[in-house]
Parts: sequence; C-alpha cells; structure tokens
Amino acid sequence: MDKPKIPTIIVILGATGDLTAQKITPALFNLYRSGSLPRMFRVVGFARRGLQDRNFTAMAAANLIKRASGPERKELKKFLSLFSYSQGFFEKKSDYVRLKKRLDEIDRAWGMCSNKLFYLAVPPRLYPEILKNLAATGLNEPCGGPESGWTRVIVEKPFGSDLKSAKALDVLLGRLFAENQIYRIDHYLAKEMLQNILAFRFSNTLFEANWGKDSIAEVNIRLWEILGVEGRGGFYDGVGALRDVGQNHLLQMLALVAMERPKDFTAKRVRAARLNLLRSLKTPTERDVKTRTFRAQYDGYRSVVGAASDSETETYFRVGAEINDPKWRGVQFTLEAGKRLGKSLKEIEIISRGESGKRNTLTFHVEPKEGITIRFWAKKPGRTVELEERKLGFNFRKHGKGKPAEDYEKLLWDCITDDQTLFVSSGEIKAMWKFVDPIIAGWQKGLVPLARYKPDSSKITKSDTSSL
Ligand code: BG6
Repeated sequence: MDKPKIPTIIVILGATGDLTAQKITPALFNLYRSGSLPRMFRVVGFARRGLQDRNFTAMAAANLIKRASGPERKELKKFLSLFSYSQGFFEKKSDYVRLKKRLDEIDRAWGMCSNKLFYLAVPPRLYPEILKNLAATGLNEPCGGPESGWTRVIVEKPFGSDLKSAKALDVLLGRLFAENQIYRIDHYLAKEMLQNILAFRFSNTLFEANWGKDSIAEVNIRLWEILGVEGRGGFYDGVGALRDVGQNHLLQMLALVAMERPKDFTAKRVRAARLNLLRSLKTPTERDVKTRTFRAQYDGYRSVVGAASDSETETYFRVGAEINDPKWRGVQFTLEAGKRLGKSLKEIEIISRGESGKRNTLTFHVEPKEGITIRFWAKKPGRTVELEERKLGFNFRKHGKGKPAEDYEKLLWDCITDDQTLFVSSGEIKAMWKFVDPIIAGWQKGLVPLARYKPDSSKITKSDTSSL
C-alpha cells in the first residue's frame, strides 16, 4: 500500500508508561525508518508527569537508542524532532482543553485539518474517564471526513473484566465514537504466524479439504512463558491468566484455526468469520468446568509486589473447548497458558485422527521459532517395511523472503491506513467473554481447586493432562 499522505498526529495517552516505551515508540520508529509514515507526522505525549518537550524526547531517545544500530541512530534524531509533550491528568478536563489547543496549533502551522489518532496506553480502569474527557472537549470529533482529517481511538486489551463490564465499556465507546473510529487491539492477531494460519489453510487445498472432525482429532493451543508477573502484580492479581491471555489471544488463535473461509479477505468478512466461530463455542457448563478445566499458581507468586498474600489468582490454566458445529463435533480443543513455565513456547498443534501412535501433527510455531512443521510417517530405509516418523519444516525467518513486520508496527500501520482486519470487533469480545465467564464463575465457586507448581519447570504441562 502507498505511504499515507494526509498529515497525522498520534496522541499517546499514558506516554510515560511501559507500553509506550516497549511497543509503541519502537514500532513508530520502524515505520518512520521504512518511510511508511506521512511526511507530516507528529507524536504528542500526554501523561501526568510534569515534563518539558525535551524531557519527553530524552526519555524516548534513551529507550530507543538501546535498540538502535549505528545507521538507525542517525535517523533517531530526526524522528525525535517529531515528539512533543502535553502534561495532563486523565480526570482533568482543562488538561484536555490544553491538549486540544496544542493539536490545533499544529494544524494551523500545517495549514490543514490533520488525522488524529488517540492511543489509550493506560490501565483499562482509566478508559471511561479518558473517553468522556476526550468527548467533552470535542477531541472525538474528526475535523474532516472519513478519508482525511479523521479521528480514531485505539484501546488495548483487556476490554472489560467480564461480559457485563465489556458491554458497559462498549456502550460508552459507542456513545462517544462511531464504530469505524474504534480500534480494539489484540496484538496476537498481528503476529506473522497467526496471519499465516489463514494463508496456509486457504491456499493449500491439500489441507483445507481435510480440515474438520473427519481428519482432525485434537487441537492444542499453547502460550507458555518463562517470565512471571514481576512488576505487574497490581494489575495481574485481579485478572489472572485466563482473562489476561485466554479470553483474547488463545481464543483468537482458536478462531483462526477453525473459522470458515470468508467470501473474501476484506476486514468485514474476516472479522465476521472469526465472530461466527467464536459464537459457536459451546458455553461451558458447571460439569465442563469441573471436568475440563485446570488452574494453578506458581510457588512464590504471592510474594510478588501487588499480589495478595492469600491470592487465589491462577498463573496457569488449561481449558477444554468444544465447537457447536457439525464440522467440528467431537474435536477436542485445549487452550493452555502459564507464567514461569521454564520454557517460552507459543504454538498451535493440530493432531490428525488415526491409529494411536500413527497420527500426523501439523504445528504452527508462533514463537520462538516461527514456522510450520508437519510430522508424518515414512518407510524406514532397508529391506523390511517398517515405519518411522519424519518431519517437514519451514522456518519463517530463515526461509521466508521479505522482512517480517513486528506486531505493533503492523497494527499502527493498519490503523493509520484504516484496515480493521487485525482488530477485534465488539461482537468477538462479547463472544469470548461468554465462553470465559462461566469458567471464572466456577473457579470462584471453588469447583476446581487451585493447584500449585514449581516455577521454571514445564512439568505442569505434562502432569494432569488426563484430567481434561
Ligand atoms: C499480553 C499479556 O497481552 O500478552 C501478558 O498481558 C503476556 O501477560 C503477553 O505476557 C504475551 O504476549 P507476547 O507477544 O509476548 O507473546
């Protein structure tokens, strides 16, 4: 796609936080370096800390320089000249008035009405206040039409903490912004290997013709992390692993594996196909929760700053899911995620039917080594006919042509160029909560005891599988 031409300002609310430093500014810098940003572009930081423009720029510089190679450092100075800062307390309307003035000044200097992108890089509990203040000061109103002079807002997950709160947030957003102005992020959708699931399925008839219950017995979706929740205890303790990554990333992976082929690959149809699939998830009953879910916490978690000393928050879960659709009847989907598991592994494993011990496995390796492998059976060399398992593999970074795009780089680009394919619709969010809510309710009732596991061992993933 061509470089966007309309002048654009991105306002980062929560500009001094971790998300800005770790994801947003590095992604913008990559876009800048590849010449993908409009020629007239500005980044305006908005946060509580009393900083001058130069302090904010220095903060961004210190963070970016760590990642930059020699030639990149030269470009950094120019990139940082696009940065400025407007101090603001999220609850204070007058600070948004000042922000608006700053944006108007930039527009006046450019002599035109520019695009405005508001990125809510803040804890979700602050969303309502910020959204209301943006609207109260007219910052939700585009100064132009949908093509140029648009206003868009990016919200990060978690979107609500259950179906009820997600609906309330949706109502608020819907009152203040039009649906085509709202971009809800699930950064997993932007991962190269997740996009590759659709590419692989729908471009290889050999596989897609056999996609469904007749050929597939099991689908295992895993998100194992080495890291714990250090530094995020305050947020995580009220959330837990299932809400943190199950309600969004893992269910989206499931949707991509099982959704029907959309009529075309426009944002509208792809999102509708994901939504249809998510809506067909069987709502877990209490019996399902008892027999097909498992939750655990790693030893030492309760000493993490921000975690309660008697916390019952799960840092690991395994959950069985079923799809209410004849195509998938009887196929066992398992979602599994955990922190401090001794190994970082994000993958989707698709296991075929067949005599036990003679199945085929197709794996989408999301991370660390992005790729696709297929395990199959072949004759062992020799005079007798004996079988042995072999593997065909494709390593995305090694063998793929072209440069892979990082998650946030892709998402920001898509938002600027108005492509909602990799953003989650409000219907999808509700469907995902409908699946997750009964599990959390069951756990809160004590239907499934909280197990414990030793940090940094992947043992937890090997034991108890039979209970699912
Ligand atoms: C985030 C979760 O959404 O995803 C984190 O809040 C988790 O707890 C992260 O660590 C995993 O994302 P990635 O891209 O590192 O696999």
